[in-house]
Amino acid sequence: MTQFKPIDSIPSTPGKFKSEKSLPYIHRIRIHSSLPKLTLWSFLFLALIFVFFLLLSPPSPPPPPSIASRRSLRSTPWGGPAWERRVRSSARVRSKTALSVLVTGAAGFVGTHVATALKRRGDGVLGIDNFNDYYDVALKNSRKALLDRAGVLVVDGDINDADLLRKLFDVVAFTHVMHLAAQAGVRYAMENPNSYVHSNIAGFVNLLEVCKSANPQPSIVWASSSSVYGLNSKVPFSEKDRTDHPASLYAATKKADEAIAHVYNHIYGLSITGLRFFTVYGPWGRPDMAYFFFTRDILKRRVITVFEGPNHGTVARDFTYIDDIVKGCLAALDTAKKSTGSGGKKRGAAQLRVFNLGNTTPVPVSKLLSILEKLLKVKAKKRVLPLPRNGDVQFTHANISLAYKELGYKPTTNLETGLKKFVKWYLSYYDHKKPSSW
Ligand SMILES: NC(=O)c1ccc[n+]([C@@H]2O[C@H](COP(=O)([O-])OP(=O)(O)OC[C@H]3O[C@@H](n4cnc5c(N)ncnc54)[C@H](O)[C@@H]3O)[C@@H](O)[C@H]2O)c1
Ligand SMILES: *[C@@H]1O[C@H](CO)[C@@H](O)[C@H](O)[C@H]1NC(C)=O
Repeated sequence: MTQFKPIDSIPSTPGKFKSEKSLPYIHRIRIHSSLPKLTLWSFLFLALIFVFFLLLSPPSPPPPPSIASRRSLRSTPWGGPAWERRVRSSARVRSKTALSVLVTGAAGFVGTHVATALKRRGDGVLGIDNFNDYYDVALKNSRKALLDRAGVLVVDGDINDADLLRKLFDVVAFTHVMHLAAQAGVRYAMENPNSYVHSNIAGFVNLLEVCKSANPQPSIVWASSSSVYGLNSKVPFSEKDRTDHPASLYAATKKADEAIAHVYNHIYGLSITGLRFFTVYGPWGRPDMAYFFFTRDILKRRVITVFEGPNHGTVARDFTYIDDIVKGCLAALDTAKKSTGSGGKKRGAAQLRVFNLGNTTPVPVSKLLSILEKLLKVKAKKRVLPLPRNGDVQFTHANISLAYKELGYKPTTNLETGLKKFVKWYLSYYDHKKPSSW
């Protein structure tokens, strides 16, 4: 009888990690037999089978450089009274009606903004982030420093680490979870598909498992994506539209998350709200997004690649400014009803929602570029190429009437105004830091 049990390792999914596919397996082989009763022949026969079996089983790979242990060199270990005090103090509310929120992906772009906004209005906030190197880790650390100054602690950990999450819920009775940790980006999914499965699927399920068992269960607000609309051509995109032909693995994992959210709401009574963000941009943004690397490349006088659709069709995005997204996130948290389950069991129907958070005005990428040229006072060198079929869709356009009705969501920042703020931040951040690689 053979048992296969995956080694209980917690891969941290740094963007570039590679060793997950070679997860070793423990082969436990037990022979249930009473040897004394066996004749010599049957013993030999058994031994033969045993040898045969050993030959058949996959060669046990050399133990991979454990990501968990590599990370532990870098990250401060969690636990202990001093650590618990810091966790409690970060999550402490300033009034009786304030929320106590666990923000996952807190060192990320949206996470940093949402966490500071919550803290500023008196909510208790604790962050968790695994600081993976999908993009410049120094930027994540700078955001962490910003959060530190605001009084928000970001625990260095992975959402796949169930022990850590359970511990956090032991220490703090979070009323809400703002789940923003994910492997983002559509093109990178072709390079490192497993990181999407790890963070967006396994990590999401792990988080929901811990939430459903927590007492009391928190209400959950999480980031889905406009990419779930995939190849849809009917515009604007409405929540009721079909979302069953994604164009990237990233989109497929977000779509899967929406289905998984339905399950945990249905079985365990978790209150869950999914927010489909549309191309979020702004200060402290993500270096892998066009507005960000266009800015960098224009300043470096590098050639910029602009994509166009079939028959020279425009590629357009419903760019949404970060402050508008933050307002939508806070409104979703504030209107979230309580989860109904307890002791891991559902006690009644719970709230399940999904909203578009966009800007309702798609802007062609060529326009994005001309605004940046004006703000940076540099003419871009560009080359136009057809949009490759690697995950990007030709346009996005949000119908936000549902979010307006239920959340009072009303974006107020147009692309010119928002990019002006981004460029101002960019120039001061990178000029101040003068990093050699930029
Ligand atoms: N920015 C956008 O335009 C946009 C659009 C649609 C959806 N979203 C979604 O919004 C959320 C936030 O996006 P963002 O732009 O701030 O991205 P981001 O990459 O800046 O932030 C995500 C953070 O999560 C962390 N993280 C990733 N995997 C983790 C794991 N397994 N455990 C712990 N931490 C982990 C990362 O280190 C990162 O700091 C994501 O879920 C993203 O998919 C963003
Ligand atoms: C936008 O969505 C609402 C439902 O939330 C729907 O009633 C309305 O018709 C949609 N508008 C357009 C232009 O599709």
